[in-house]
Amino acid sequence: AKDGPVAQAARDGFTSSFGVLAATLGSAVGLGNIWKFPYLTGANGGAGFLLVYLIATLLVALPVMISEIMLGRRAKADAVTTLVRLAPARQPWWLIGAFGVVAAFLILAFYSEVAAWVFAYIFKAIAGDILTTDPAQASKSFASLVTDPIASLAWQWAVLALIGGILLMGVAKGIEAVTKRLMPLLFLLLIVIGARSLTLPGASAGLEFLFAPDFSRITPAVVLTAMGLAFFKLSIGMGTMMTYGSYFRADENVPATALRVMSADLFVSMLAGIAIFPAVFAFGFKPEAGPSLLFITIPAVFANMPFGQLFLVLFFVLAAIAATGAMLSILEVPVSVMSERLGWSRKKAVLVNLLLLAAIGSTCALSNSLAADMQLFGLNAFDLFDYVSSNILMPVGGIGLTVFVAWVWGRPRFEEALSNGGRIANRALLDVLFFITRWVTPLLILAVMLKGLGVW
Ligand code: PHE
Repeated sequence: AKDGPVAQAARDGFTSSFGVLAATLGSAVGLGNIWKFPYLTGANGGAGFLLVYLIATLLVALPVMISEIMLGRRAKADAVTTLVRLAPARQPWWLIGAFGVVAAFLILAFYSEVAAWVFAYIFKAIAGDILTTDPAQASKSFASLVTDPIASLAWQWAVLALIGGILLMGVAKGIEAVTKRLMPLLFLLLIVIGARSLTLPGASAGLEFLFAPDFSRITPAVVLTAMGLAFFKLSIGMGTMMTYGSYFRADENVPATALRVMSADLFVSMLAGIAIFPAVFAFGFKPEAGPSLLFITIPAVFANMPFGQLFLVLFFVLAAIAATGAMLSILEVPVSVMSERLGWSRKKAVLVNLLLLAAIGSTCALSNSLAADMQLFGLNAFDLFDYVSSNILMPVGGIGLTVFVAWVWGRPRFEEALSNGGRIANRALLDVLFFITRWVTPLLILAVMLKGLGVW
């Protein structure tokens, strides 16, 4: 009866192709593009890192994304139930979904804190507080925010409440409606800021940095970082794409959607890089500024240009929009598991998740103040959650998903699910995709992980 047509008809989901694209792209495009991508590219040598990232995207991220969406759409259920339904009896593949829930909590714990800084910076930019050309002053201003336990917690909880509020409205009326309105605005803002940055004097040094490869910086650890970034940026390996896939309509073309999301996500990252690096070089900053690049370098850079304050406000609005779409999709993973698997109301699921997150997230919010000494392997909660999710949990999830799809499920079901019972338009492409999903992706992830973690 659980699979019956009544239950399925009543299930919330995306209502249009544009909604599917806006929500899925909204999930992919986030602080991963605007915060992580620039600082990781900057710290790891620019274009060489970019190239490794691109290879990881094609050979690893794309097959995982297609597999995930396909499974979710087939089962039309949350990440745990999907794998319970599709796996042979008594095989614990649902653990991938359960790990996904854990990963979602870890990611959101630190992500909501970075988002908190972004939201706070919109107001600081409006007030003019952070508009300084002096890098020392800019660092002081950032430090005063992150070391203030009350402000850090308050902003984080406000951000979580906002996301919870949108999720309460549901999938079509909440997630889809919000991302449909925000994504076009995000692209518009990005193009305005990119154009401003490219017309600064000295912008070419930044472009050279972004496009001229230096391979001497590429170590196994850097390759793992690039692959982890691909998982993180494309929201894969932890159930988000499975959950969103379950809201896809039957006639949606899965590989085409995945490809579109991947290219648009790349486009946004490149634009973010183009917006940030030329400006960084034009004003004589270092590209390796690390996670704080966004909050120290950018304000100082914008303060140097005409209409700087306006662009600074727009920049943080853009980052806040990007963070919102991503956070919706992260929180939807545990929310859907709790409401569908455990049979809770959506309201109860959202509230319980918010409480859990406020608790777990506070370890990250306080990682520069009260909880600074709370460390494991020399990392504070913030860095630990970031590292473990991108470099361990998501890649392991990726191995599990591709092995499940290509080895347990097998070719006939793969074909059937991709075409959704229809005709396969291009058999040669399908052959290539299946081969990569079966052999290349899981083995490559495994090799990169073992090498990057120094196990092998
Ligand atoms: N892809 C998002 C970003 O780039 C982050 C994210 C990770 C979203 C995992 C969903 C799941 O910011």
